[in-house]
Amino acid sequence: RTVAVVLAGGTGTRVGLGIPKQLLKIAGKPILEHTIAVFEAAAEIDEIIVLMAPGHLDAARQIVGKAGFRKVTGVIEGGDTRNATTRLALDAIGPDDCNVLFHDAVRPLLSPRIVRECVNALWTHAAVDVAIPSADTIIQVDEDDCITDIPVRARLRRGQTPQAFRSSTIREAYRLAADDAGFSATDDCGVVLRYLPDVPIKVIEGSDENIKVTHPVDVHLADKLFQLAAAQAPRLVDERAYTEELSGRTVVVFGG
Ligand code: CTP
Repeated sequence: RTVAVVLAGGTGTRVGLGIPKQLLKIAGKPILEHTIAVFEAAAEIDEIIVLMAPGHLDAARQIVGKAGFRKVTGVIEGGDTRNATTRLALDAIGPDDCNVLFHDAVRPLLSPRIVRECVNALWTHAAVDVAIPSADTIIQVDEDDCITDIPVRARLRRGQTPQAFRSSTIREAYRLAADDAGFSATDDCGVVLRYLPDVPIKVIEGSDENIKVTHPVDVHLADKLFQLAAAQAPRLVDERAYTEELSGRTVVVFGG
């Protein structure tokens, strides 16, 4: 069984609106609905669990009910941090071995190709990440904002989600983390890397469209990307061809 966990436990302070950003409407639907719809439509996914920000469970349940998502088996409360939300999801999934994909609710432009490749990679790897090359040079700085390192760009990637695991692996990583008072991580692969360093984490290619709505400008970008996807939909047979075709036009979109 393969379970998709939609992490919607945050409140979106950086977007800075009165409601969690996953409830914002883009292209006519709440971001959360777009995101769940990708998993609902994916043949590889059997079950979906939504972890929602406290105080907003009813809104999430309404979205699920209205859209008629049949794979959603639970809408439950998230935790104080993203990692705490992941732990609550693992508790909700139960002890049976399964595949689990953790995805940011605020990445509504996830493609079916990425979901498929994550699940396929779990045949050979117990942990899978999704990432894209960085167009920008990434620099490392110290606390005074002076450069300490400029790692070789060709070896750097920008992490996205989903992050996919065999449940026994991610459970074990979090069990070890629970015994560590100094534990902190911003994602789930980071927990495996730190506490189970012998487990190889396979990286599959994400996409430029799989953006995380983080700052106010991302709301506009996501909206534009949905418009473009709708305009291109009839030709959306092969995502790679679509991405190549789109890349010439995104310049126009982002620039104008
Ligand atoms: N998330 C979560 N539980 C938390 C915090 C975050 O499930 N306690 C989820 C968010 O809902 C989001 C994803 O993790 O889908 C990525 O986090 P981020 O973009 O940082 O979201 P927020 O925490 O909502 O945003 P901010 O940091 O601006 O407050």
